[in-house]
Amino acid sequence: MRVQSGFVRKSALTVACGVGVVWVGLAGYAIAQPRGAGPLPLPTTLTDFFQPGSQPGDLVAPMASAQSCGGCHGFYDEAVEPYTSWTASMMGQAARDPIFYACLAIANQDADFAGELCLRCHAPQGWIEGHSTPPDGSALTGLDFEGVGCNFCHRMVDPFDPDNVSPAEDDAVLAGTADLPVNPHSGQYVLDFEDRRRGPFVTPSAPHEWLQSPFHRSASMCATCHDVSNPALTRQPDDSYDFNDLDTPHPTHDKYDEFPLERTYSEWSMSDFAQGPIDMGGRFGGANPLVSTCQDCHMPDVNGAGCFFTDPWPDLPRHFFNGANTWVLKAIRNLYDDSESLLTEDSVNDSIARAIGMLQAASDLELTHDGVDLTARVINQSGHKLPTGYPEGRRMWINVRYYDATDQLVFEHGAYDAGAADLDDGSTKVYEGKLGLDAHAASLSGLPQGESFHFVLNNTWLKDNRIPPRGFTNAGFESVQAAPVAYAYADGQYWDDTEFSIPLTAAYAEVRVFHQLVSKEYIEFLRDENTTNTDGQTAYDQWALLGKSPPVEMDFGTISFGCNDADLAAPLGQLDFSDVVAFLVAFSAMEPAADIALPMGQWDFSDVVAFLTAFGTGCP
Ligand code: HEC
Ligand code: HEC
Ligand code: HEC
Ligand code: HEC
Ligand code: HEC
Repeated sequence: MRVQSGFVRKSALTVACGVGVVWVGLAGYAIAQPRGAGPLPLPTTLTDFFQPGSQPGDLVAPMASAQSCGGCHGFYDEAVEPYTSWTASMMGQAARDPIFYACLAIANQDADFAGELCLRCHAPQGWIEGHSTPPDGSALTGLDFEGVGCNFCHRMVDPFDPDNVSPAEDDAVLAGTADLPVNPHSGQYVLDFEDRRRGPFVTPSAPHEWLQSPFHRSASMCATCHDVSNPALTRQPDDSYDFNDLDTPHPTHDKYDEFPLERTYSEWSMSDFAQGPIDMGGRFGGANPLVSTCQDCHMPDVNGAGCFFTDPWPDLPRHFFNGANTWVLKAIRNLYDDSESLLTEDSVNDSIARAIGMLQAASDLELTHDGVDLTARVINQSGHKLPTGYPEGRRMWINVRYYDATDQLVFEHGAYDAGAADLDDGSTKVYEGKLGLDAHAASLSGLPQGESFHFVLNNTWLKDNRIPPRGFTNAGFESVQAAPVAYAYADGQYWDDTEFSIPLTAAYAEVRVFHQLVSKEYIEFLRDENTTNTDGQTAYDQWALLGKSPPVEMDFGTISFGCNDADLAAPLGQLDFSDVVAFLVAFSAMEPAADIALPMGQWDFSDVVAFLTAFGTGCP
């Protein structure tokens, strides 16, 4: 699969531009379609995806390459200096990510010029240089493939500066930017026209222009891209989302009026972490156990120097940026030459090990049982929903394995077949977000109503049971379009409980919580729906080659069950008539407490026999 050195990524085909389709406002749209022509792609334009902030052509000084930084910021101590860890981060490789390109192709198939939206975050250095047309990424070149690059982040200016702490130079940049963002989201960034590198410190020894910028220590910098909205959709008075009129920019550009795709920053902003530092005991690495912002967990501080010839800082942020991605970097090494991606086997392995560490730090598992039911409590220790961010194909689930006294497997919930990449999702709790099309979006697109992976057409959330962070309130999350959907969490709840009935012959259980980055359903969709180019197949092949997105074990626990399975009612510790009554009540109500023998999920004679056996012997 290795591509030749010097390879520049190009798609075989560019996207057709909806020629010949008449769009007469949305009401008349379906009627205007010739029979059988198919409404996709929606004939949207660049204007539909316009966003305020810096625009192509605004920069005076061009982007500087990451490699030019590496000579000083990656020369001496790889573990501490920015260069190596950034190259092996998903942001450093965002413009090479094969899953991204597979999804981009579908977005362009679904709505003309939708790629304009995607490239502004995934290849921002290319976007600002005007290389996002055509919207399939085929005009990207050179430094554009550095994704979210060093120079890009370090030229970002705070468009809001609520505490009036930004460098004075920022005023002129903001004054020279025609349209300023309304609130931070969707890649509405403002960049310094000049190459003045902003960072947290006062650094007179820097041999380049620098400015001290408190923005770079704030979560709102990350919010620029970690709240993702679809500007082609506008929120209606009844809280549904409808497509704007064709060739019209979003009326407000306010994220809360656009359709929410990712709300990582907003989730954080409504958590206790946004109120100030919390002592998390060092579980996210770094020298300081107190964490508040995105940077505190994703760029943990150490005592070290960011450049080999300067003095160390006690709070030097490392450029780890690890999240949940545990295999796509390997796919990038398969698809691009190392001389181009600047990845190495070591840098990738180190990054993946850190990502697994993040996933293991993200949650805790607590197990309890009351004789008949096992309760698995998953506690979210992260700074946002668990899992957060990109919803499509990402999921977590609970796996329970019951064993009898001779260590034989009795029953399993949430079994995963690694060969087929099939999850038995009906028998367990799966934490995930699911998007879809409402009736209107379905009629407009000609696609079926309901669940869908069509990123730019989806206009409704069908499920979101991802676990909220510390400090969750329903009102707060509702106000940032991040309320649970088809699920309920009480105010203050940052954990979730799942009850499983214990088979009578089980002596103990092993419980695991798994995270998976890309489900089989999603990767097959990306392959099968693609009628444009080979990017869906390329992503699928990498997925298959690299173990089909192997689930990562986040938590593990065991619990053993005593001999009190028939002891259902008070007084506990005593087998008496009240236990028989309790069983019969639970049995007739088909409660989990009475489903104690195989086959599980059926309240039948085997359950009664099992109960009577346990009652009669005092022990199973
Ligand atoms: C506002 C910035 C922004 C925009 C606009 C945006 N994305 Fe993303 N995208 C992100 C971020 C941030 C993540 C990572 C979130 C996470 O890991 O949970 C991401 C993740 C993804 C992923 C998952 C990649 C992987 O390796 O698993 C895909 C695929 C993707 N985006 C495709 C798209 C497409 C296609 C579009 C346009 C229709 C788009 N994105 C628009 C910011 C953006
Ligand atoms: C010739 C060496 C050299 C090169 C090349 C270089 N830097 Fe620096 N840079 C420094 C030194 C030295 C400092 C001061 C470090 C310190 O005091 O901790 C610094 C500081 C910085 C800071 C911190 C500013 C602050 O206020 O906190 C940023 C950001 C930065 N550099 C970004 C970059 C980027 C981006 C590139 C590449 C486009 C780059 N540098 C290339 C030597 C270099
Ligand atoms: C210019 C847009 C942009 C900005 C600004 C930005 N990000 Fe990202 N970030 C992205 C994109 C795009 C991705 C997804 C890349 C992919 O998976 O292909 C991403 C992915 C990530 C990931 C997920 C990595 C993984 O393994 O899943 C983390 C963590 C992250 N960013 C942290 C941050 C933090 C912290 C900040 C602020 C200091 C920040 N980002 C600022 C665009 C941005
Ligand atoms: C208290 C620590 C903590 C804070 C604060 C925090 N995160 Fe995370 N983040 C985590 C952990 C742990 C994970 C891995 C679990 C997961 O994927 O949700 C993670 C995962 C992520 C991912 C990857 C999701 C995916 O599916 O690939 C992104 C993107 C991200 N965080 C961005 C942010 C941003 C942006 C902020 C600030 C607004 C932030 N985080 C604040 C701990 C934190
Ligand atoms: C996603 C945005 C982002 C990218 C990409 C990024 N940085 Fe940073 N960088 C930051 C933030 C944010 C801080 C300050 C974090 C803090 O203090 O908590 C920082 C701090 C720094 C500093 C000061 C601390 C130190 O390490 O000396 C330097 C220098 C620096 N970055 C250079 C680089 C270089 C070089 C690259 C590319 C190899 C790079 N950055 C890529 C966001 C970014």
